[in-house]
Amino acid sequence: MMKQIGVTVLTGAIAATSFGSIDALAHAKHDLLDPNRVVNIAHRGASGYAPEHTMTAYQLSHKKLKADYIEIDLQMTKDGQLIAMHDETVDRTTNGTGAVKDKTLAEIKHLDAGSWFNTANPDYAKAEYKGLHVPTLDEIFDKYGKHANYYIETKSPEVYPGMEEKLLKTLQSHGLSSNRVQPGQVMIQSFSQASLLKIKALDEGFPLVQLMDAPTVQSITPEALDEIQTYAVGLGPSYKGLTRENTAMIRERGLLLHPYTVNEKVDMERMLDYGVTGVFTNYADRFNEVLHDMKKK
Ligand code: G3P
Ligand code: CA
Repeated sequence: MMKQIGVTVLTGAIAATSFGSIDALAHAKHDLLDPNRVVNIAHRGASGYAPEHTMTAYQLSHKKLKADYIEIDLQMTKDGQLIAMHDETVDRTTNGTGAVKDKTLAEIKHLDAGSWFNTANPDYAKAEYKGLHVPTLDEIFDKYGKHANYYIETKSPEVYPGMEEKLLKTLQSHGLSSNRVQPGQVMIQSFSQASLLKIKALDEGFPLVQLMDAPTVQSITPEALDEIQTYAVGLGPSYKGLTRENTAMIRERGLLLHPYTVNEKVDMERMLDYGVTGVFTNYADRFNEVLHDMKKK
């Protein structure tokens, strides 16, 4: 069973999909899995404007920037609690140090998850970011319940035995089981094929997305895509590995295609021209502007 997908060089030109399908957005508005709909995924929340993976960043992306999805990276504490954090250590995004797996939730709750942003992004710094806390998945679901769409990543699942079971249990306890949400309201993504297969074995109902790095998608093969299609509804590759040709190859199979992390308008336009069905972005407002401008053309 592969861990990373695709090893041979893509050959042959494939007719490109186009951005013409944007007109279909109106009637497909409410179906998040419709390949004719382009979705706007707020990467770590509105992380271009506020400290990533804080409730402030999620609220900004959800209410003000009007993203379709809140993207959440999961790590698991020493006492088995799922928290929203990108890195395996708290070093970059808090005032603490050390691995998440070695800290209790109580210890993590004492950390300041906002001040680093003010230092790193003086143009967007705000006093209110100082002292923000790391949210748990429970807290995110408590706040938004069924009033948001979630794009959840199992991060480093090999470090956290039981992470998938805990995720499904948490979803269930908030009324977000796969049979109780709208199609596509909860997407589950991972770079780990094993983690996605585990989720599928535990609950077949959640749409799964296989993440991949740029070299892997650059060399993706039909055989690799065949395998991915047995468990996933889509691919989430680095946008740096996408071309018109491999985009067409992926899209003509009906797989959704959500590249990360597309922050510049010129790249957003290029991805849409290739035919992607959404993007992860730190600037959901920019992507909405691009979509709006393209609809006017
Ligand atoms: O989940 C899509 C994208 O976020 C993957 O990269 O490192 O930002 O989690 P990363
Ligand atoms: Ca992610």
